[in-house]
Amino acid sequence: MPDEKEEPSGGSFNGRDFFVKLGLGSLSIAAAGTAVFAYQYLSPNVLYEPSPIVNAGKPESYPVDSVTLDVNAAIFLIHSKEGFFALSAVCTHLGCLTAWKPELGIIACPCHGSKFHRDGVKIEGPAPRPLPWLRTWVSDDGDLMVDRSTPIRPMEFVRV
Ligand code: FES
Repeated sequence: MPDEKEEPSGGSFNGRDFFVKLGLGSLSIAAAGTAVFAYQYLSPNVLYEPSPIVNAGKPESYPVDSVTLDVNAAIFLIHSKEGFFALSAVCTHLGCLTAWKPELGIIACPCHGSKFHRDGVKIEGPAPRPLPWLRTWVSDDGDLMVDRSTPIRPMEFVRV
């Protein structure tokens, strides 16, 4: 008579091996999940933003009495008789991008109708403040540079 407690030979179902493999598989999945969260936690959470410094190019490319909008940088580069200056083109009401209206000689916001003189002073509309002047200088290479992060007092012209 065969021994009933004898282990079945290869190829047949073994309950203990199955549960050992199931347990190891579960531990592996848990370890992988922990490793992913640990990596995310330890990685620097940095937002890479573009530099606030804009190279606006050579002064010669801006005729006297011109107002030039740089859509990407959201600035106006203005060449007046007194010199160069830069304004933020972002409306001080709710942040829409303003536009130069040469036929009217003003800067206008398309969102809620604020209007500004080309020196940034508000004419009308809900904007609470004028468009800020931005620090502007000429680089060693002779390019006009604008720092969008640094407002300055109005009427500080750059003469080239
Ligand atoms: S965002 Fe310019 S007027 Fe409202």
